[in-house]
Amino acid sequence: MGLEEEKKLEARYVMSTFARKDVEFVSGHGMHLEDASGKRYLDFLAGIAVCSLGHCHPKVVSAIKAQADKLIHVSNYFYIEDRGEVACHLSRLLERDVAEDEKKPWRTFFANSGAEANECAIKLARLHANKRAVAAGLDPAEAPSLVITLVKSFHGRTLATLAATGQSKLHHGFEPMPEGFLPTPINDADALCRLMENVGDSVCAIMAEPIQGESGVHPCTPEFLALARRLCDSTGALLIFDEVQCGIFRTGTPFAFQQARVMPDVVTMAKGIASGVPCGACAARGELGDVMGPGQHGSTFGGSNIACAAARATLDALDSEEVCADIKRVGAYLADALASIPGVQSVRGSGLMVGADLIDGLDAPDVVQRALEAGLVINATGPHTLRFLPPLICTEAYVDEAMHILASVLQDGGDV
Ligand SMILES: Cc1ncc(COP(=O)(O)O)c(C=O)c1O
Repeated sequence: MGLEEEKKLEARYVMSTFARKDVEFVSGHGMHLEDASGKRYLDFLAGIAVCSLGHCHPKVVSAIKAQADKLIHVSNYFYIEDRGEVACHLSRLLERDVAEDEKKPWRTFFANSGAEANECAIKLARLHANKRAVAAGLDPAEAPSLVITLVKSFHGRTLATLAATGQSKLHHGFEPMPEGFLPTPINDADALCRLMENVGDSVCAIMAEPIQGESGVHPCTPEFLALARRLCDSTGALLIFDEVQCGIFRTGTPFAFQQARVMPDVVTMAKGIASGVPCGACAARGELGDVMGPGQHGSTFGGSNIACAAARATLDALDSEEVCADIKRVGAYLADALASIPGVQSVRGSGLMVGADLIDGLDAPDVVQRALEAGLVINATGPHTLRFLPPLICTEAYVDEAMHILASVLQDGGDV
């Protein structure tokens, strides 16, 4: 079936929740995608930060094939091959910078998506506050339940994670939103302190993306994250980092928080963890890993045999000093190259998570469309902002190729 046929069927039978581009990729290898006509595209989006090893990495393909031949799914009523290994690997990665005698194990709940991972984190924070209230002999109905979030954040599309998402335009039409989420501006220490002074007793968690992705790559400063840590410590609230987009090596360290040197209590992740097989994870540090008990949370599919096999192969391939060094070096090269292109006003980000604002008069969605026609896949997060999330196997040569296309598109006329 060709693109036109597919478009007709999708127009009739698939909900139009995404404004889709006029292309159907039918194969992918490494940094490239291919459509049915054989046209090749250089991919600087990676399925929205998912395909970190590039498309169809041989180690991931063979792990998925081998697992599919053996067992695809059995449910969480049973033990699952590779799941303990993946959780142990995540725990090791999360504790990477911690002194040997201060290391604690992390325990993970496996979900299917970033939103589900965040649902788990929110429930965990509320349950933790509830248990503390009970232990202190207080009425659990009075336990802290507010979650402080950040303006312009994105945490998912389920009702609770949408309520946590500090972009009210995304709430419209879905009211009433679940209660208990209060957004405060990113990197505004005074505003966060004031909010905690006013409502701190009712706060069960502060939840933040160390680098906001969907709103156009906006990093939290290390000072702001450290302040959030101190405020949580002073009240007993949990510090939750949503690393669904910036985690799993995207910024050149296993997790972005490691560059800010601020240790959270709970970390959520998803996109890059299993190379495109649906997998989300909510990990909690030390004793917080025991907050959820049997029956208090669950998922039919989460942490399935196939997801765990894909996650294990992905983490094994990504976890090396060389890969981290390459991501940092190529990411800096990409940021520098972008900054030197006429039409680009400013660049921000970390590693291979980079955003660029365009000068007035340039329309980012139009640039994305023309780049696609010229064979480069990128993404716009707003009218003036481009986002670059290439596979983590990207090299300087691919950056040069992508920047050549982008520079041509940004020139008047845009012919490449
Ligand atoms: C930081 C962050 N959190 C959560 C989500 C939601 O993830 P999912 O689409 O897998 O539910 C996203 C998706 O873009 C994200 O970027």
